[in-house]
Amino acid sequence: METNQPLRLFIVCFLIHSLTSSSSLSTKNITTDKNALLALKTCITHDPNTLLAKNWSTSTSVCNWIGVTCGVRHRRVTALNISYLGLIGTIPPQLGNLSFLVLLAINDNNFYGSLPYELARLRRLKYINFNYNQLSGNVPSSIFNISSLQELRLKHNRLSSMVNVSCGGPNLMSLDLSENSLEGEIPSFISECKQLQFLNLTINNFRGGIPKYIGNLTKLKTLSIGLNKLEGEIPKELGNLVELERLILLDNVLLTGQIPSLLFNISSLWQINFSNNSLTGDLPHNMCSHHRRSVLKALQLTRNQIMGTIPYHLWQCKELTIVSLSYNQFSGHIPRNIGNLTKLEGLALGANNIIGRYLIESINNIQ
Ligand SMILES: *[C@@H]1O[C@H](CO)[C@@H](O)[C@H](O)[C@H]1NC(C)=O
Ligand SMILES: *[C@@H]1O[C@H](CO)[C@@H](O)[C@H](O)[C@H]1NC(C)=O
Ligand SMILES: *[C@@H]1O[C@H](CO)[C@@H](O)[C@H](O)[C@H]1NC(C)=O
Ligand SMILES: *[C@@H]1O[C@H](CO)[C@@H](O)[C@H](O)[C@H]1NC(C)=O
Ligand SMILES: *[C@@H]1O[C@H](CO)[C@@H](O)[C@H](O)[C@H]1NC(C)=O
Ligand SMILES: *[C@@H]1O[C@H](CO)[C@@H](O)[C@H](O)[C@H]1NC(C)=O
Ligand SMILES: *[C@@H]1O[C@H](CO)[C@@H](O)[C@H](O)[C@H]1NC(C)=O
Ligand SMILES: *[C@@H]1O[C@H](CO)[C@@H](O)[C@H](O)[C@H]1NC(C)=O
Ligand SMILES: *[C@@H]1O[C@H](CO)[C@@H](O)[C@H](O)[C@H]1NC(C)=O
Ligand SMILES: *[C@@H]1O[C@H](CO)[C@@H](O)[C@H](O)[C@H]1NC(C)=O
Ligand SMILES: *[C@@H]1O[C@H](CO)[C@@H](O)[C@H](O)[C@H]1NC(C)=O
Ligand SMILES: *[C@@H]1O[C@H](CO)[C@@H](O)[C@H](O)[C@H]1NC(C)=O
Repeated sequence: METNQPLRLFIVCFLIHSLTSSSSLSTKNITTDKNALLALKTCITHDPNTLLAKNWSTSTSVCNWIGVTCGVRHRRVTALNISYLGLIGTIPPQLGNLSFLVLLAINDNNFYGSLPYELARLRRLKYINFNYNQLSGNVPSSIFNISSLQELRLKHNRLSSMVNVSCGGPNLMSLDLSENSLEGEIPSFISECKQLQFLNLTINNFRGGIPKYIGNLTKLKTLSIGLNKLEGEIPKELGNLVELERLILLDNVLLTGQIPSLLFNISSLWQINFSNNSLTGDLPHNMCSHHRRSVLKALQLTRNQIMGTIPYHLWQCKELTIVSLSYNQFSGHIPRNIGNLTKLEGLALGANNIIGRYLIESINNIQ
């Protein structure tokens, strides 16, 4: 009996879907919202605290339901937040009927199956959070067509493909697709998302090169594409990202070539993590050029094949808190002025050919 329950509930969920599909209602009101939420409730097969089971009762107004917020003017559902409830279930297409919805947070549950195409009907939606679920399959292209959308979070699901996506939503500022199973090249629709400030593609199976067009997304502050299978050189076009603060490319072992010195023309860039790639050549000598001396905080280049001496100027970046250069081919001496870095918390220089003549003297000054 126990084992049949999910199947039975799935059938009910499916029937309710068919039932509402056959209705020809076109005007929407709070009853539409209620039906959409009841459809969702039917698609939830496990509700450990019986929170929705008890609270989402047809005898009270939807606006009093837990996780539901209604607008003051229209008395329609504007926010649905059922995060962290341990729910297991699927996302029914009826959610696309919550036409006044601005915020949708379903994160940190165990929703599975695919994301319905109908979500694209939510023309007022600004924020979607589906992080930490088990959603799978294709990321519906329609979701990127919501023109009001500012933030889309799909971290830690099982999404495997993105087909025919175009960045129809001109307002998308934050996109998190990390910890999925996305494959192929970094999808080209990203070039159209001109307002992007935050992009996280870490932990997927992306291959190919880092596209040059990313350098055209000039609002980017955070670019994180670690733990993929990217190859080729770091495009110098990334130097056009004048607002960039964090650049994280670690664990793409096929990433080669020299670190472009143009990156260090960006005056806001404070975190660099290129660890565990196959970068070569010398370190650019402008890392701590005059306009950057109070910027750089973290420089992590462990496990590459970078050579030459560590530029003396590096130690003039007074805000440095972490420097890891171990497992490279650096040579030369550790300069004396390293002891001037009073904020330094971590320094890793091992597995190089560096001579530590002044090391002890310097370390004594580091807290
Ligand atoms: C709600 O959504 C379903 C499925 O997407 C649809 O068939 C139905 O016509 C919609 N409208 C109303 C008013 O329920
Ligand atoms: C919602 O609209 C339907 C038909 O369009 C109507 O029958 C129903 O009474 C309305 N409900 C409310 C609460 O206005
Ligand atoms: C549902 O929860 C809300 C918020 O905690 C509460 O105000 C409301 O009374 C509850 N409704 C029922 C029917 O339990
Ligand atoms: C949703 O609710 C959770 C817990 O009640 C809260 O921590 C979180 O900030 C809310 N999310 C949003 C986007 O408001
Ligand atoms: C995006 O929206 C446009 C205009 O509203 C529409 O023509 C197009 O089919 C939509 N694309 C997707 C993938 O939904
Ligand atoms: C993608 O677009 C092509 C050409 O327009 C079409 O043939 C194909 O069916 C679409 N694929 C999906 C999954 O929508
Ligand atoms: C990007 O995603 C990864 C994997 O979930 C996470 O560890 C990392 O903190 C994220 N990066 C940023 C800058 O938020
Ligand atoms: C970047 O934008 C410029 C101007 O809009 C355009 O000419 C160029 O082709 C774009 N570069 C890439 C690599 O997309
Ligand atoms: C370097 O990256 C590869 C591929 O992602 C991974 O298998 C390996 O464990 C990483 N090495 C270290 C020391 O993190
Ligand atoms: C780097 O920045 C400096 C100072 O802002 C500027 O003079 C120089 O032209 C820039 N270099 C490149 C290649 O853009
Ligand atoms: C950066 O790289 C180091 C290895 O040098 C790794 O241990 C660390 O977790 C990475 N940090 C971030 C924020 O990605
Ligand atoms: C270290 O700092 C002291 C005091 O701020 C300064 O006088 C000295 O020139 C610095 N040394 C180096 C090598 O930068």
